[in-house]
Amino acid sequence: MEIAKTIQAVRRLVKAARSEGKKIGFVPTMGALHIGHISLIEAAAKQTDFVVISIFVNPTQFEPGGDFEKYPRPFDDDLEICRKHEVDVVFAPPPGEMYPTKNLTWVNVKKLTEPLCGQFRPGHFRGVTTVCAKLFNIVASDVAFFGQKDAQQAIVIKRMVADLNMPLEIVVCPTVREPDGLAVSSRNQYLTQQQRKDAALIYKSLQKCQEMVESGVTETKEIIAEMSKMLNQIPSGKIEYISIVDAETLESIDRVAGKALTAVAVRIGSTRLIDNILVDTSKE
Ligand code: PAJ
Repeated sequence: MEIAKTIQAVRRLVKAARSEGKKIGFVPTMGALHIGHISLIEAAAKQTDFVVISIFVNPTQFEPGGDFEKYPRPFDDDLEICRKHEVDVVFAPPPGEMYPTKNLTWVNVKKLTEPLCGQFRPGHFRGVTTVCAKLFNIVASDVAFFGQKDAQQAIVIKRMVADLNMPLEIVVCPTVREPDGLAVSSRNQYLTQQQRKDAALIYKSLQKCQEMVESGVTETKEIIAEMSKMLNQIPSGKIEYISIVDAETLESIDRVAGKALTAVAVRIGSTRLIDNILVDTSKE
């Protein structure tokens, strides 16, 4: 496994692999790797011949006063995980390598970035799309792998790639969960024992939505009311949003018909957790 700290180094390694006819897979991350990230590495290893992972805590996607400073950076553990899972290259640039000067160019995907997390994290998606555009230009992979856990992010990235004719395919992999259903996240480690227990209600509320839809309830207001009842049971919890939207346009819907995305964001103490499920009434 190679560790590339510079753009030049990662480009050289990818170029060499490509000249051997290898298909390049890329997994962008901010490190603090867990089984969610590992599932993306495994998908990349299965579908491509040469796996590049980036570990870069991207400052431009954190709001001022967000958790950029305290975001976990267990770099040595991350390298160990990458070695174990047969990653070919870890691209881990220092901030000055990615942002040598103040960015004057930003990638901004409209509309899709406005609802859900976009309402609560101004500038977040602009930071994500800009750093992903830069990473895609640097790594030049054939495929990049994203998690359904961050459903809106995956949709926004897919749209950016389509709108700007970026020459790569985006693959979205399923959300990996803890045994009690909580979506695995680097931020779960901020939770106290009690908060961690309470956090299981997030997925339970999404399952409730699924059950209601399956039993024929389609009015989103009614489903959201049930879900908020459940999430309000979390003593230190504060619901940021519970939204049921069209799974492609992310526009709010009054009734579930066809493919819908149910997404929630909850603050438990000072930790912000997000999760989602896809519901599809067109499926039997
Ligand atoms: P990060 O939060 O490190 O996540 C990296 C990738 O792992 C994302 O595609 C995310 O959706 C996926 N992921 C996280 N938890 C997951 C889980 N439980 N199951 C499946 N996949 C999961 O997302 C980012 O970093 C950044 O915004 C990034 C795209 C790297 C740009 O800076």
